[in-house]
Amino acid sequence: MSTTITVFKGDGIGPEITDVVMEIMDAAGADLDYEIFNVGAAEYEAHGELVPKAAYASFDRTHVLLKSPITTPLGKGFRSLNVTIRKKYDLYANIRPAKSNKAVKTHYHDIDIVTFRENTEDLYMGIEEMVSPDEAHSIKIITRRCSERIIRSAFNYAVAQGRKKVTCVHKANIMKLSDGLFRDTFYQIADEYPEIKVNDMIIDNTAMQLVMHPNQFDVIVTENLYGDVLSDLISGLIGGLGLLPSSNLGHDYAMFEAVHGSAPDIAGQGIANPTALLLSACMLLDHIGKPEVADRIRGAIDAVLLDGTIKTPDLEGTSTTREYVDAIIARL
Ligand code: NAI
Repeated sequence: MSTTITVFKGDGIGPEITDVVMEIMDAAGADLDYEIFNVGAAEYEAHGELVPKAAYASFDRTHVLLKSPITTPLGKGFRSLNVTIRKKYDLYANIRPAKSNKAVKTHYHDIDIVTFRENTEDLYMGIEEMVSPDEAHSIKIITRRCSERIIRSAFNYAVAQGRKKVTCVHKANIMKLSDGLFRDTFYQIADEYPEIKVNDMIIDNTAMQLVMHPNQFDVIVTENLYGDVLSDLISGLIGGLGLLPSSNLGHDYAMFEAVHGSAPDIAGQGIANPTALLLSACMLLDHIGKPEVADRIRGAIDAVLLDGTIKTPDLEGTSTTREYVDAIIARL
């Protein structure tokens, strides 16, 4: 049965990778109807709105969104659209699975880490003020309610997926109240899951441990900012941002996007790696009950990467996006 999903095309490499991801899903027999909208900085400049009302109305209806990256101005200008969408639809669980692919050469082997990043509070609430021309304040908010729901999501996932361990990452030695609340909540909820091993780690040590001994990590649960930084670091363990997908889940809505940004440095050159968005689309297909289509696409990605002749430049290849996409479609 065909399913309707909403698609937001964004900025930079966004439109190029979104088009080919839809092409691959169609070729794999996903049987989707798309409601497609331009959103982001370019749309804002052209029509004065970051997200057209019809685009929000579509997501309100379909409850499932495939979103491409969007450019966010630095230091001034509009609030990050990503943050806005996550808040508006209460997409509190940002799930980022990073798995080594044998075909992609890195210094690391057998990485299999799933990061659960809290998506709705922390410094990302954007509560900032200039208290004088020379002093800016940014307020960090951590609540028990939001901590509980992301931590519980991580444990439920661990149980459902047969994972062994959940690590809580924080900085409670310095932010004793806010990060202390997050860490305390973690251990309270951990008591409900005696079959899962738990530990906690300070964010700076975690950064070092991830580089030195990454295989000790299984599921990581952490606050918004730490999750953002760590997941880019973790992407480096498996071959870079071109490979890391994510889902953003709430009770009623689900959004799927690559972890990377709009990559303006390579936009329009036809060399972007669409794999991260494609794997995000596979998470979407799992979510809407089409896991066999998702597995077919994942299989084709693995086959092409393993073959090794066709790789985009971020994976030290020389192929174009088009060549890579054609190779995947041929393998489906
Ligand atoms: P970025 O993730 O766009 O790029 C970082 C580096 O990784 C660049 O060298 C880029 O060429 C490379 N890269 C990223 N994705 C790639 C892909 N699919 N294939 C090949 N290479 C890839 O981060 P950057 O440059 O810091 O941010 C650019 C813009 O993206 C900013 O405006 C930022 O706010 C925005 N951004 C948006 C996100 C989103 O919409 N979810 C997430 C992160 C950043």
